Amino acid sequence: MILVLHAHPYPSRSRAGRALLAAATDVANIRIHSLYDRYPDFDIAVTNEQAQLREATRVVMLHPVYWYAAPGLLKHWMDKVLVRGFAYGPGGDALVGKSFLWAPTTGGDEHAYSEAGMHERAFSQFMAPMEQTARYCRMQWEPPFVVHGAHLIDDATLAARAAEFAARLAAPVNHAG
Ligand SMILES: Cc1cc2nc3c(=O)[nH]c(=O)nc-3n(C[C@H](O)[C@H](O)[C@H](O)COP(=O)(O)O)c2cc1C
Repeated sequence: MILVLHAHPYPSRSRAGRALLAAATDVANIRIHSLYDRYPDFDIAVTNEQAQLREATRVVMLHPVYWYAAPGLLKHWMDKVLVRGFAYGPGGDALVGKSFLWAPTTGGDEHAYSEAGMHERAFSQFMAPMEQTARYCRMQWEPPFVVHGAHLIDDATLAARAAEFAARLAAPVNHAG
């Protein structure tokens, strides 16, 4: 089972994330779990979340980038669910070997994520916390699927990226990318 953890605080205003999510829905063996729908009060059912993760062979996090990171509820989910004895530490081997695909959307385009651009750094420099979280839990880090310039890309390009995302989810995992 591929578990897509979708975290968008304003799904009705989402364009890029919504397109990716819609494309993912048709993939075989996929389970979409929209955290802001399920936990509007941030009260995470930790045992349920952990049980669902155990069933997954691949974990996907799909969200807009907010202040160079995940939206608050997804960060909170990580703090509550990826705990010692489950995700790391003694006996914490629940996630070992599962594949992890990070799928963020960003307002900034490729130029914005360059030394001369608004964000002054390549986007890869902002990946480290997510990548190391996955690695710390001994998951297998896949090359991320990033949609930049979420407000700038035209409908046809976005539709093509969404189809690419669905194809990526449907294909066997390639960690080397
Ligand atoms: C609170 C907030 C913080 C944001 N921070 C960033 C950021 O750090 N970098 C960036 O490129 N875009 C940032 N954005 C833009 C969002 O990433 C962008 O609106 C989103 O990816 C678009 O996807 P959507 O159409 O699914 O909402 C931010 C937006 C909001 C509302």
